[in-house]
Parts: sequence; structure tokens; C-alpha cells
Amino acid sequence: MLTYLELTVIPLLLPLSYGIFAGVQLYLSRRSFIKAHGCKEPRCRVPLKDPFLAVDFVWKTLRNAKKDRYLEGTQERFNQYGTTFAAKHMHYPTIHTIEPSNIKQVLATGFQDFKLSSFRVDAMVPLFGRGIFTTDGRRWSHSRALLRPSFARHNMENHLPFMESHFEQMMKAIPTDGSTVDLQRLFFAFTMDTATEFLFGHSVHTLHQMQLSNNIIPSASDTSDAEFVDSYTHSCINIVHDIRLGALSKLHYNPEAKKAQQRTFAYIDRFVDEALALRKSTKSSESEENSQYIFLNELAKETEDREELRDQILNVLLAGRDTTASLLSNMFWEFARHPEIYVKLREEVAAFGGREPTYEELKNMKYLKYCLNESLRLRPVVPANTREAIRDTILPLGGGEDGQSPMFVKKGTHVYYSVYAMHRREEFFGEKTEEYRPERWEGLKLGWEFLPFNGGPRICLGQQFALTEASYLTVRMVQEFPHIEAQDPRPWTELYTMVVYSKYGTLVSLRPTSS
Ligand code: HEM
Ligand SMILES: *[C@@H]1O[C@H](CO)[C@@H](O)[C@H](O)[C@H]1NC(C)=O
Repeated sequence: MLTYLELTVIPLLLPLSYGIFAGVQLYLSRRSFIKAHGCKEPRCRVPLKDPFLAVDFVWKTLRNAKKDRYLEGTQERFNQYGTTFAAKHMHYPTIHTIEPSNIKQVLATGFQDFKLSSFRVDAMVPLFGRGIFTTDGRRWSHSRALLRPSFARHNMENHLPFMESHFEQMMKAIPTDGSTVDLQRLFFAFTMDTATEFLFGHSVHTLHQMQLSNNIIPSASDTSDAEFVDSYTHSCINIVHDIRLGALSKLHYNPEAKKAQQRTFAYIDRFVDEALALRKSTKSSESEENSQYIFLNELAKETEDREELRDQILNVLLAGRDTTASLLSNMFWEFARHPEIYVKLREEVAAFGGREPTYEELKNMKYLKYCLNESLRLRPVVPANTREAIRDTILPLGGGEDGQSPMFVKKGTHVYYSVYAMHRREEFFGEKTEEYRPERWEGLKLGWEFLPFNGGPRICLGQQFALTEASYLTVRMVQEFPHIEAQDPRPWTELYTMVVYSKYGTLVSLRPTSS
């Protein structure tokens, strides 16, 4: 017979002992996992005044961001704590690293063990839906497989004449009397115009509007285009705000953001519907030779899901637009301060004798490539990134007294990697890594140490597109304006939103060939 005690205690004890049993089992299996992989304790754990929520660590990050030195601040931490260290962000365990082999593990070798950080995904889903930037696993594979053929079918050679026409628009907005102009503003307009042309087959012509506002040439402008650019820009600013707020963003009610988002959708849907109509009509006739390449129409060959098409187009617009503009403005910021570099570039460009370069010729410009690489090194457009472990795993470096042993990475750990700080390591890039010096690329052979476009299965799909666009525009600028001069004594200052650009723009004066 069971006693009263047995009747009451056993039901209580069972789940409890099962809990203990599961805990012990997890502990034991983790211990053998750690042993099997030769993992050691992290060489450095950041000492925290508040070990539970790590408020001091987060507070310091926010304070640096407020003073526009977020990036420098992350760099100082690696100087202080080493190239890989463990810390906490609120209650999440985190690992910070600038070791190429650790980054390779996260992005390539151990790809299956990680996902995007949930902060980023939560903030981006309202505008970007289930697109390539917000998904993992099967959904992401699906996006990647959907987008890739459309990129592959795009012929960069055919894209050059479109760029030329937008470049000519931009020329009209540049004063030729040597007065100051903000190139960053113009590059953002240029990439918006070329990206929309590439994606929808319809440019929003923001460069036209800039001329209007400068009263250079009056020209008609379509109000729905202007409204779209405005709504889209507002929506992006809101997302950055929400990523910063993290978990608190859920409490942040913002009806204006909602409206901006709806206007963005409505504008895009027009083009999606056109693409779907075209899909129906060309199915029967198959007569599309000699027609302009339109990314959305290519995508519509793969799917007829209206929402999916809109999400993916918005994702690619985000990826393609601000990034290329940021690369260009940061590079010209340096050109304006290094006349000797600009002279060398001019010599390389002189080979074309003033005519427009071909795609082949752009690919063979050695010095221009040094300049592009050096800009992407010093001011990486996407300076840092985070991935979250979805199961217990390891990183090859950072454990033990010397940091040369593997480290255990518990499920749920956020791994933060800073491309910005890695690109400043002198053992990889030579001395004075704070300086813009394209010559350092002569004979430099690098793998995961240089990572402007990410690596592994999620490597940037638009790398060729971006480099061709930046190269073409640079060559044309150098041809039209052999002289450039900085018009701003302030040091380069970060403005870190979705990508990094210059807080005070790129203020320069330019002088054309004839003067
Ligand atoms: C200088 C210019 C650019 C830089 C530095 C750059 C950099 C990057 C980086 C770092 C990522 C990885 C993000 C992550 O996984 O967290 C990425 C992804 C991506 N980029 Fe770029 N990008 C540039 C231009 C472009 C352009 C022009 C396009 C399209 C026209 C583009 C399309 C994409 C796409 C679709 C992805 C997502 C890939 C995936 O998650 O599978 N990018 N890019
Ligand atoms: C620029 O960097 C890429 C990536 O590391 C490399 O493949 C390429 O050779 C570099 N270009 C030059 C001119 O150094």
C-alpha cells in the first residue's frame, strides 16, 4: 500500500527529478562536447559592474554612438580585451571577434549552426517582409534561389548606357565654378535613380528634382516618385531607430511609420502588377528579345506571388542603393584630401582618351581597384554584423590562456563580428591602417581578413553590380573633373544607420576640364 506521503510527494518529485535529470544530462553532454572539441574557457571575459544585465557595457556602447564614435569604441574594446572575447548584452551571452577563422566558422564552415540576430529581423520584418534579408533556413534558401538567376541573367555591359544617362543628369547638378557641392547627396540620388531603373525599369529621377531645388534647370517631376522616395526614406529611418531600441521597440507606437510604409507598398505594387501582366502576355508570345533588362520582370518569371515580389524588390533596393552610394562618397571624401592619389587615378583614366569606358576596361583598372578595396577596408559599408547560435557549437579560436584553443558557444549566444576593427589589424594590412593608402594593396593576398561583401552562402549577390557602378561613375567623374578639393576641415565622422556614411556629407569643389 502507498502511504499518504508517497501519494503526494511522488507526483511532485517526478517532474522535479526529471528536471534535474535533464539538467544533468545536458550538463554531461555539453561537457563531453566541450572535451571532444578541445574547447577551453574564453581567454577574456569582459568584467562587468552589473554581471546580470550588463547595463554598463550597453550604456558605454550607447554613449559612444551618441558621440558619433560607435565604431571607434568597438575598436578600442578589441585593443583592450583581445581579438576574441566573451561578454553580455542585457541577458544574452555574446562573443565578440575579429579573428578571420572565427568569422569563417560563423559564416561558412559552421553556417548551419547560426541564424540572423533576432533584433535585426524583428525591426525589419514590417517593411521588408519575408525577403532575403530577414529570413533563415528554408525560407532564406528559397529567396536566394529566387533572386540568384535574375542577377546571373543581368548583363553589366548593357547596364553602362543607363548609368551614363543618369551620370549626365548628375553633371547638371554639379556647379562648375568651383563652388562647394555635397557629393554624398548626389551619389545617393544617382544610386536611387539607377537602382529603380534596374529594378522596375522606371527611374524615380531624383537627380531631376535636385536640379529643381537648386534652380539650375527647371524640369517636370512626377509627384508619386518623389512621394515614394520620401516614404521609403522615412521607413528606413524608423527601422534603424527600432533596431537601436531592441526589445523596447515593441512599445513604440508610430502611426506615421505605418503610413509611410503603406505608401511605399502602394508605389511598388504598381510595378509588380505590370510585371505580372507582362508575365501573362509573354508566356504565349515569348517575344522579348532586345527589350530592356528589368529585374522585376525576371523575378516574375520565377514566381507570381504579389507580396513575395514586393518584399524581394524592397530587399534588393535596400541592399543595392545605400551601399554603393556610401562606397562612392567615402572614396571621394579621401580623393579630395589626397591629390597625389587623384593624379594617379587620372593617369590610369587617361588611357580612354576621354571616351566612356567599356565593362572589360573597367575590370582591368588596377589602381582604381586598389582605391575601391582601400575604401571598403577603411570604411566598410556594413561595418559589423551579428549571428545567433541555434545549437551548441564552437569557434576555433579564443579559448585558453593564449586564446589559441577553440571556445564553446552555447545555443542562444550572439556572435558579433566587426569588419571595421578587423580591417584595421596591422598584421594583415601593413602599418598605419588608419590611413587611406591604395598602394598597400600591391601584392596583398587576403582571404577572410578582408570582408566587405561577407562570405559563405550569404555572400553579397550584388558585388559585381556595385563594383561596376562605382567604377563607372568614378571614371566618368575623373574624366569630367580633373581637380577635386576638400571644402570641409572636419575629420571624417560616422553616421551609422543601415549603412555607414559621412555625417557632414562629402563637401568638395570640382573643376572641369576646360578651366
Ligand atoms: C559597396 C556595395 C555593397 C556592399 C559593401 C555590400 C555588402 C553586403 C554584405 C556585407 C552583405 C551581407 C549581409 C548579411 O548577411 O548580414 C550583403 C548581402 C546582400 N547584398 Fe550586398 N553589398 C553591396 C551592394 C549590393 C548591391 C548593389 C546589391 C544588389 C543590386 C546587393 C545585394 C545583396 C543581397 C541581395 C544580399 C543578401 C544575400 C543573402 O542574405 O543571401 N548588394 N551585401
Ligand atoms: C581586392 O580585394 C579582393 C578581395 O579580397 C581581392 O580578390 C582582389 O584581388 C583585391 N584587388 C586588388 C586590386 O588588390
